[in-house]
Amino acid sequence: MTKVLIVYASDYGNTKKMAEMVASGVESVPDAEGVLKEPEEVTEDEMTSSDAVMVGTPTHMGSPHWRVKQFIDTICSPLWIKDGMIGKVGAVFATGSGFGYAGGGCELAMLALLSNFAEMGMFLVPLPKNTPGFKFGGLQWGPYGRSSGENMEQTGVSEEKLEATKYHGANVARTAAALKAASIFP
Ligand SMILES: Cc1cc2nc3c(=O)[nH]c(=O)nc-3n(C[C@H](O)[C@H](O)[C@H](O)COP(=O)(O)O)c2cc1C
Repeated sequence: MTKVLIVYASDYGNTKKMAEMVASGVESVPDAEGVLKEPEEVTEDEMTSSDAVMVGTPTHMGSPHWRVKQFIDTICSPLWIKDGMIGKVGAVFATGSGFGYAGGGCELAMLALLSNFAEMGMFLVPLPKNTPGFKFGGLQWGPYGRSSGENMEQTGVSEEKLEATKYHGANVARTAAALKAASIFP
């Protein structure tokens, strides 16, 4: 069984919806299990018993949500010290709805989290541009779900963006299964 831990924070439900789509993508892969957790629910054991960790965040002031940052500092940092996550798989996704249709800082939020995973010696999974739905919600760093329209009206994350999100979950589960079988860092 390949275990993919999906950690997310969400104030208004948009990132939670993305996380649920990630989980459905993970579970579309044979022998893969997606475990959804909010940041405060995650323990070090939960992390080390997972083959992959995916973190989803709303973009807040161009950065990850403070609850996600707290998870990085309190759960991930000790594991970094102990080399607890080396060789596991890491990936990210984000939502945003900032002024300016491109969104303010979602790439920075995703890159900050990917950098944390790289520090821990994890393999990072990008989002290939031929992923279905990529043109609506894709960045090479992972799926990005804009949750508002051009006038900042709340629209929720569109089905097309969610489609890319589901593929991301499946890609991560397949990558984690292959790396586990390869035992690169036994
Ligand atoms: C305090 C705060 C700061 C925000 N800052 C940004 C930002 O810098 N860039 C952006 O694109 N969206 C920003 N947003 C919008 C949220 O990222 C967006 O609405 C997101 O989809 C909310 O996700 P949620 O429904 O999972 O809480 C901000 C929202 C809040 C509440």
